[in-house]
Amino acid sequence: MSRPTIIAGNWKHNPDRSTGESLWREVVDGVEKRKSQLEKVRVLVIPPLPWLGLLGSTPVSQVELGVQHISDCPEGAFTGEVGPALAHQFGARWCLVGHSERRTLFGESDAHVAKRMRAALDHDLKPALCIGETLEEREAGLTQEVVARQLEEGASLCQETESIVVAYEPVWAIGTGVTAAVEQVEEVHGFLRETLREKWREGADEIPLLYGGSVKADNAGDLLGLDDVDGALVGGASLNAASFLGIVDAGIFAL
Ligand code: 13P
Repeated sequence: MSRPTIIAGNWKHNPDRSTGESLWREVVDGVEKRKSQLEKVRVLVIPPLPWLGLLGSTPVSQVELGVQHISDCPEGAFTGEVGPALAHQFGARWCLVGHSERRTLFGESDAHVAKRMRAALDHDLKPALCIGETLEEREAGLTQEVVARQLEEGASLCQETESIVVAYEPVWAIGTGVTAAVEQVEEVHGFLRETLREKWREGADEIPLLYGGSVKADNAGDLLGLDDVDGALVGGASLNAASFLGIVDAGIFAL
């Protein structure tokens, strides 16, 4: 088993141009300083698309780029869409698929998610399948049922040997400042690992499981110390270089 630790910053629909340029520079410099400790830690920045054109044109060795969403339409007359082939040409190597904001605000279904996972893999983007229950679902005792369905349906067009990442992001912990308790994360990640073993068999232990939802430098160490937590998907705290680099440090020390 050789899962890397992945620390991914999802910038969402932020920041403005001048803030983003200095944020990027500070993140790149900070990661460069930690280079010798990053053998098993991968650092990703997942900016809005206009940023990808800018950042992807000057690739830096230690920080990989991703996109927050991809289209599964082929190239052609699909106004407003950006597919994985184009994103890859502009430097993306990763993509989020099925983030809860896309599911709840933009009506993305498990069927859309499955097609986008397939499209990403077909064009050399590594997809992170985002799953997670709402507060109502958790309170109704449906957490395992919901995440199992999102995982199985979202990955239904992927092959056992294909390289994907799964990001567990409980919806109630996203952007709320309420991080899931370590025991809650441990329980769901353990369940996801077992579900992957049933579905993926041999490849299951190679699939990194990330946690996302109000991850900060001061709680990252406890979360990343769990056996089945292989990284963090960070929203708000990735918009501040010191906070994000603090989470990178937690990833380094958790190894
Ligand atoms: P926050 O870290 O702001 O809670 O966002 C998490 C997230 O949605 C990352 O994709």
